[in-house]
Amino acid sequence: MSSQSTNDVILVTGGTGLVGSAIQHIIETEPVGSRFGKRPGETWIFASSKDADLRDREQTKKMFEKYKPTHVIHLGALVGGLFKNMKYKLTFLRENTLINDNVLHTAYENQVKKVISCLSTCVFPDKVTYPLDETKIHLGLPHESNFGAYKEEFGCNFTSAIPTNVFGPNDNFDLEDSHVIPGLIHKCYLAKKNGTPFIVSGTGKPLRQFIYSYDLAKLFIWQLREYDDVEPVILSVGENEEVSIKDVADAIVKAVGFEGQYSFDTTRADGQFRKPASNAKLLSLIGEFDFTPFETALRKTVQWFVANYENARTGKKADGST
Ligand SMILES: NC(=O)c1ccc[n+]([C@@H]2O[C@H](COP(=O)([O-])OP(=O)(O)OC[C@H]3O[C@@H](n4cnc5c(N)ncnc54)[C@H](OP(=O)(O)O)[C@@H]3O)[C@@H](O)[C@H]2O)c1
Repeated sequence: MSSQSTNDVILVTGGTGLVGSAIQHIIETEPVGSRFGKRPGETWIFASSKDADLRDREQTKKMFEKYKPTHVIHLGALVGGLFKNMKYKLTFLRENTLINDNVLHTAYENQVKKVISCLSTCVFPDKVTYPLDETKIHLGLPHESNFGAYKEEFGCNFTSAIPTNVFGPNDNFDLEDSHVIPGLIHKCYLAKKNGTPFIVSGTGKPLRQFIYSYDLAKLFIWQLREYDDVEPVILSVGENEEVSIKDVADAIVKAVGFEGQYSFDTTRADGQFRKPASNAKLLSLIGEFDFTPFETALRKTVQWFVANYENARTGKKADGST
């Protein structure tokens, strides 16, 4: 994409989710014409499942016919944290395979110029030397990836982003089905409100790299405009920026202002111990990039959650209502 005025139409599937709504926030708040801001003439569409159920080919086609996108950032997916993934493995595989096939093939049929799909560092093999980098994806069992096929067979400019663990405003804060940070923020918030203990699942020892959704949004916009290769790019903070789940819980306790009893339930699963990923490729391409410090980003996320508790995605509330 050039930096000049354009008639590009960028369709963001999953535009109402954690990552999609962060891209919307960045596009709407950065100065027009700046590196991450909207460009004159550009149209951005942030689609939800109400625009089309992407599991359905006809609905997917109708949405593409309606918006006529020239570019797609594909984030629409059935998403969940460790426990939900373990519980509904097959549903995840089937639904996301359907969604990805529908979106990529409809994009191809509509001659979309560029697609960025979203992988996750979960696609890497389990037994691998760290840090992960982009060449290690295929060193273990094969995974569902279509970008190579579309490029090889049809010459499509379809690529993928591989974010590490994302958090920020508009996340899914469900107590059981969410990722670790939003789940713990909600738990800690309730513990403070109800004067009950704050209990963190697992040992607190696993290490993760977390990226703030507003930082990730900028990286997606960069990848859309300035990266023209088919190979995926890991979008992450540096591999030396791992934090333990205990560090996360400590930071949440501080940000929430929780002063009660706080412990770890070591009978619950920990998941993979660590999976540090290298952002060397990203940094070599983008040049300077200022990541928001973890504690600042966490504090902003907690502030957002507290201010938006009534409307946030919290699943069942403590009293059993939804
Ligand atoms: N969160 C993370 O830590 C993380 C890390 C790495 C990669 N990723 C990847 O990033 C992408 C976006 O994740 P997210 O965290 O932003 O997810 P999210 O907050 O759960 O949002 C999911 C989005 O997908 C839409 N969607 C779900 N099922 C759909 C369907 N059948 N048809 C159409 N739209 C559907 C939802 O629309 P509604 O609002 O209408 O339900 C929502 O906009 C996913 O591919 C995920 O695997 C996430």
